[in-house]
Amino acid sequence: MSSHLKAYRAAILHSLADPAVVGVEQSYEYFEDGLLLVEDGHIARVGHAAELLPTLKDVEVVEYRDALITPGFIDTHIHYPQTGMIASYGEQLLDWLNTYTFPTERQFADKAHAGDVAGIFLKELLRNGTTTALVFGSVHKQSVDAFFEAAQALNLRMIAGKVLMDRNAPDYLTDTPESGYADSKELIERWHGKGRLHYAVTPRFAPTSTPEQLALAGKLFNEYPDLYMHTHLSENRKEIEWVKALFPERQGYLDVYDHHRLIGARSVFAHGVHLCDEECRRLAETGSAVAFCPTSNLFLGSGLFDLNKLEAHGVRVGLGTDVGAGTSFSQLQSLNEAYKVMQLQGKKLDPFKSLYLATLGGANALYLDDKIGNFASGKDADFVVLDYNATPLISYRMQQAKTLAEKLFALTMLGDDRAVKETYAAGQSVHRRD
Ligand code: GUN
Ligand code: ZN
Repeated sequence: MSSHLKAYRAAILHSLADPAVVGVEQSYEYFEDGLLLVEDGHIARVGHAAELLPTLKDVEVVEYRDALITPGFIDTHIHYPQTGMIASYGEQLLDWLNTYTFPTERQFADKAHAGDVAGIFLKELLRNGTTTALVFGSVHKQSVDAFFEAAQALNLRMIAGKVLMDRNAPDYLTDTPESGYADSKELIERWHGKGRLHYAVTPRFAPTSTPEQLALAGKLFNEYPDLYMHTHLSENRKEIEWVKALFPERQGYLDVYDHHRLIGARSVFAHGVHLCDEECRRLAETGSAVAFCPTSNLFLGSGLFDLNKLEAHGVRVGLGTDVGAGTSFSQLQSLNEAYKVMQLQGKKLDPFKSLYLATLGGANALYLDDKIGNFASGKDADFVVLDYNATPLISYRMQQAKTLAEKLFALTMLGDDRAVKETYAAGQSVHRRD
């Protein structure tokens, strides 16, 4: 094999399919002593070290002991301008927005500030092993320029968009239907499809857009191929009542977006905590996705996401942190909370389903499963090295674990940024813990 190759040796685990569809045993592939071959930023092969090593000549092999390599984590819903207000006390959604969020987002009119926060934000994602995210900017177009410039410098696969918001928000933070459309279009022309970057048309949520703005957002979403649409849906009961009052002519919250042609493939709706069967059916038949954001749903007191209900309807589901309402950048911590959300409903979350949600399931929700999410040959070499000795407690717990499932589960319960030894994007190391 060619010397452009680089090899990574450790235990290697990746998802092959949704455990809910193929069963847990068929859903993953595991190599106790594995080798991941990377060439020109892509996965060349994955397999047993004993089989692959003899086929290699003059290839550098990087070896990690007591470590597990998995695909990079995928965060299907997060707000980068809210990095500095994570963990703000005491409010539910609508008061939390007015008290903390809007004043914080105001600062993103300043591009230099936006650039500083984008740098901190991306560093934090990579420290936590997240290599792709679907990201809210602020209403200012320069916030998205700053974000994409920072992501491009690291050659990350990232999706982002400028917030659209023309009512029910402070004057300093609103656009108009026309300016929001024009600014978004300018950003699409500048960034969408450039390297590994993608654009998302981003109406904040139904209450902060007039029907005129939603109509223009829908027009834009349907004007370009492979564009994303990113918003919030049915997160909180007071929010849902407000949407009903603002759009009395619509059948429900999802119908507001549906009516304005904002649903379909690459539409991602954050939360979906309070969806009826008909809404689940419509999400599934249009190929839309929902981002399950356990830490933020618990933090804002929004309610318990019913993963099994959405799964039963065949809705695409990814995992989101929703920072700054979410309380951690770590997808391991999101899985910890997701498990507890399921327990509170008398249900279980299998550790291999957790792995799927944080990797291939996220890729599927984002229609990026031909590019990221597992170690199929030709995909982007975005991966994480998890440390079985990250803390004394994790190390001791791992010594007791008898099965892979047990190790994986304990890692999702006990792990966070400390468990991420190294993160790679397109074959390059972009974070090294020590
Ligand atoms: N709904 C509208 N805006 C927001 C936001 O910034 N965060 C969350 N969690 N929900 C929202
Ligand atoms: Zn959000």
